[in-house]
Amino acid sequence: MEESNDKNPDENQIPEVDPLVKKLQDTLSLGKRHRFWETQPVGQFKDLGNPTLLEGSIEAPTPLEELRQDPYNLPSQYEWTTCDINSEETCTEIYNLLTNNYVEDDENMFRFNYSKEFLLWALHPPGYFPSWHIGVRVKGSGKLVAFIAGIPARIRVLDQIVQMAEINFLCVHKKLRSKRLAPVMIKEVTRRVHLENIWQAAYTAGVVLPTPVCSCQYWHRSLNPKKLIEVGFSRLGARMTMSRTIKLYKLPESTVTLGFRAMELRDIPTVTLLLRTYLAQFDVAPDFDENDVEHWLLPKENVVHSYLVENPETLEITDFCSFYILPSSILGSQNYSTLKAAYSYYNVVTQIPLLQLMNDALIVAKQKDYDVFNALDVMHNESFLKELKFGPGDGQLHYYLYNYRIRQALRPSELGLVLL
Ligand SMILES: CC(C)(COP(=O)(O)OP(=O)(O)OC[C@H]1O[C@@H](n2cnc3c(N)ncnc32)[C@H](O)[C@@H]1OP(=O)(O)O)[C@@H](O)C(=O)NCCC(=O)NCCS
Repeated sequence: MEESNDKNPDENQIPEVDPLVKKLQDTLSLGKRHRFWETQPVGQFKDLGNPTLLEGSIEAPTPLEELRQDPYNLPSQYEWTTCDINSEETCTEIYNLLTNNYVEDDENMFRFNYSKEFLLWALHPPGYFPSWHIGVRVKGSGKLVAFIAGIPARIRVLDQIVQMAEINFLCVHKKLRSKRLAPVMIKEVTRRVHLENIWQAAYTAGVVLPTPVCSCQYWHRSLNPKKLIEVGFSRLGARMTMSRTIKLYKLPESTVTLGFRAMELRDIPTVTLLLRTYLAQFDVAPDFDENDVEHWLLPKENVVHSYLVENPETLEITDFCSFYILPSSILGSQNYSTLKAAYSYYNVVTQIPLLQLMNDALIVAKQKDYDVFNALDVMHNESFLKELKFGPGDGQLHYYLYNYRIRQALRPSELGLVLL
């Protein structure tokens, strides 16, 4: 860095903010105004570290009879639509909107490409509310140009089990960006959540907003390094050749742990118990019951895969791992259109090291021909990332709670929640 750029031009002038603090604020974008989020019941940057603020709800519920009954106003050329994703036509519209306009990496090389089966799974958990799947259409043409979705979830925050909405798939068509449509969509989903007498929400974003309860990092484990390098997902390391790289990431043909097998319907009660016991150690985690486990963890081809370790003698189920499937479109490659990615979901160990379990997860993901295995540094994942040859990704994933304050941000290892 050039020294001179950092110097204060007027030596006698006392800078308002220490340059180091300013720099930190800038990187965290804490200095930035948030015209919308400053009006919402979320932790505000100015309250960071204030010990007098109580943990829990920020705002009390509004009596149901006082809730706004009609939707928020959209600019006159647009109208609200409630999306029934069971309808093949609507599902295709949402799929196309997201496929062309949803999250991209910083260099715009890849864009999430959630499959239709995945969307159906993600939006239809037990007790879902059809009214929380909200679209915006252009009046006249009917074209779907924006979407936001909520699903209900019980989430434990420290010792409180809180009924929440998980908000996901916020997307505004590229041509309609920066017109303040997102705040209206967030307000509208919030209104519909309130109508179900639910007052808290959880969501994640790559951007810094007021105020993350936890900031996590993605790590990536190459399964098909040649393709990843060819499409620009990863780079050949210094002093590495392609063949040495392929050798470095080579995995055994079959899994190593005795009794490792796919989860089945009959395993639901045991897996629920294993998971509940395991997740109890984290500060924020879902409160899964058997119905949730059946929905979220029973294997669904190309959506979610779950495996467990069954002791061959006692038939006891002792360990469990899972990953979900979220491909990305490759935007600039002549040879490939899709990056096939598996994402670590919930993993539980009681008998074998987590490292060994995850090594088997990598092996089955490779057998299924995924190109890369991604994992956040949440729960105990740090214990295996480096050793299993995951590399750190750029950018972060921030977790947020709406209308719920926790005193101190969590370390990723204290977080037991994975959102899709
Ligand atoms: C995210 C997206 C819907 C925001 O729409 P936009 O047209 O860029 O922004 P708008 O002018 O409508 O609204 C801006 C406000 O939304 C907030 N916002 C932007 N992204 C957000 C996000 N991911 N979650 C919550 N709020 C967000 C901004 O912070 C800003 O509020 P502020 O002034 O209080 O800071 C749009 O950029 C998009 O579809 N991006 C691609 C998909 C994506 O990233 N989705 C979010 C996944 S977490």
